[in-house]
Order: sequence, then structure tokens, then C-alpha cells
Amino acid sequence: MSAPLVLGIESSCDETGVGLVRGTELLANQVASSVDLHARFGGVVPEVASRAHLEAMRPTLERACEDAGVDLSEVDGIAVTAGPGLVSALVVGVATAKALAVSLNKPLYGVNHLIGHVAVDVLDHGPLPSPAIALLVSGGHSSLLRVDDIATDVRELGSTIDDAAGEAYDKVARLLGLPYPGGPVIDKAAAQGNPRAIAFPRGLTAAKDLERHRFDFSFSGLKTAVARWVETRRRDGEDVPINDVAASFQEAVCDVLTAKAIAACEAEGIDDLLIGGGVAANSRLRALLEERATAAGIRLRRPRPGLCTDNGAMIAVVGGAAMVAGVRPSSLDIGVDSGLPVSRIVV
Ligand code: KG4
Ligand code: ZN
Repeated sequence: MSAPLVLGIESSCDETGVGLVRGTELLANQVASSVDLHARFGGVVPEVASRAHLEAMRPTLERACEDAGVDLSEVDGIAVTAGPGLVSALVVGVATAKALAVSLNKPLYGVNHLIGHVAVDVLDHGPLPSPAIALLVSGGHSSLLRVDDIATDVRELGSTIDDAAGEAYDKVARLLGLPYPGGPVIDKAAAQGNPRAIAFPRGLTAAKDLERHRFDFSFSGLKTAVARWVETRRRDGEDVPINDVAASFQEAVCDVLTAKAIAACEAEGIDDLLIGGGVAANSRLRALLEERATAAGIRLRRPRPGLCTDNGAMIAVVGGAAMVAGVRPSSLDIGVDSGLPVSRIVV
């Protein structure tokens, strides 16, 4: 039997994503972003995102079907992000998916957004190795996961105790006067700067922290250190070397993420490392991970940057994996869960 054809719908934040996937084959991946509407607020405004999803959902769905040359009646299952994310944004995708599931009489899978980020690499590099360690770094989450089965068995080894990595990028960009989202702009500025110009702190890497927080992250101290450094320069009437600050901040983030991901592989005796989430698009993170993974004899899987940020295809991948694993479809009365834990793959 060929792999099921799955429609994936994503609406947890500011991207309306609709993807069509058959097994590891990407047929369509349409994303409509409302990022420009949020830029002047310096972050995503839930009501604005919700309204934008409502307007974009139908045309995005139509474009995806057109791209794939697929009629909705051919779809075998419908997957949708059920959480975590913004409630008012999630409900638009879930309502759409339920309506399609009922009208087409197809099974519904309410899936975990974070698992989508980890699973999406199958579209670039084929079935996932098992077991694997996953470094998940997005705007709302930063975690190290042990993935034994993407549809049924994912365990969190550690996570951020304060800000997520992407959130730190966004906040540091804001204090440097750079636009939202901060990740891509800092990535670009950092390429022109000196990563060793300023020694910013590496959170939770001191010997005393490693006992309790070996695989946890903390980025809020780093953000404060950048803010203090910038304030002092401004108070003294000196220019702020934005590229050097960006490069030094980025080096601190990537150094910690990379070191802990490799340490998790070593502690679990696992030689396969996956990365996912918006920050996995970061050029320095990708390069440093490759360097350190190679040195440690670890195989690294990096989805192309365009699949790292939010999209519907990654949600379709999880739905397809659940169908193949025989996971029971979701009930038609599922709700959304803004704080859905990463271990709950299908709700
Ligand atoms: O996974 P994602 O698209 O949405 C969430 O699930 O949160 O991640 C968005 C985050 C934002 O914080 C954004 O600044 C960050 O990913 N990001 C990056 C890059 N591209 C996006 N961070 C660093 N470097 C990048 N190139
Ligand atoms: Zn995401």
C-alpha cells in the first residue's frame, strides 16, 4: 500500500500554513504570513493573527491543492496543529480541519506543533533514524528531546527555564532597534561582526548548574547582559557596534545549544542528531553543529531553512506518521491546547 496522502494545516502563530504530503514526499507547502501586520508591535498580536488566519485559510488551501494537483476528495487524512500556540490562532486551523474532516469523511489528527518541527526533515532526507536526539529551537520553545518514534514516543530531556532561543533573538533585535522577527536580521548582521568582540554569558553551563540543569537552557541572563552592555555604551555617548553585538550574542546562543545537544547524544549513547524550529534556520547554528557533530562522530540532520519555520507540511508529516503507526484518529470534539506538552504527539 502506498503512503497516505495527508493534508496538514498550521495556524499556531503568525503563519497560515497548508501542506500536502505523501509519506516523505512533499507535494505542496503554501504559507501566508501575517508577520508584517505585527512588526510595528514588536511581536505577534493574537487577535490580529487570528483574523489574518481566517482571511488567508481558504486561499492558502486552494493554492496548496493547485500546486500538488490534488483534489481534496483524494486526501486520506487531515492533520492540524492542536497546540502549543496562541489559542485564538489555533482555533482557526482546528475549526477548518474539523469542517474538512466532516465534509470529506476523512480521519482527523490533532497534532503537536513541536513534533512537526522535529519530523519535517523526512521531506528532505527520508525516514528518521531511531532513536535520535532532537534539538528543537523555535520562538516559543527550546528543548532537547529523545525521539524513539516520531508518532508515538518522544521524551523531553531538558528545556528552557526562561526565554526560548528565538524569543531571545527577537528581544535582542528589539533592543538593538532591529525589526521583528529578530532571528533572520541578527543572523545577517552577525555575519558582518566579530563573534569574539564581547564575552557574553553562556547560561546554565557552569559546573554547579550542570548537576540539575545539564540539558536545560536559560537565555534571559544573556538577554539582560546584552541590554546592560548596550545601555552602558549609549550612556557613555559611544556608538553601539550592532554587528559585533549581534555576532557575540549569536555565538553565545549557538555555543550553548550546540554543546548541550552533543552532550545529550553522548549521554544517551545516540549518534543521530536532528534539528528543527525557526532558529534551526540560523546559519551559525547550522555551521557550528556540523563542525562539532563531525568531531564527535555524530550524524546531523538539518532540514532546509525554508522548512525550519512554521508550515503546514510539517504537520502533515506527523499526521501521516500517526496513520502509518495505527494511532487512533482524534475525536471531532478536540479543543486546542496552548501549553500542549511535547510528549503528547496526537491529541
Ligand atoms: O518555529 P518558528 O517559525 O515559530 C514558532 O514556533 O515559534 O520560529 C520562529 C522563531 C522567531 O523567534 C525567529 O526570530 C526565529 O525563529 N528565527 C531565527 C532565524 N529565522 C527565524 N532565529 C535565528 N536565526 C534565523 N535565521
Ligand atoms: Zn514553530
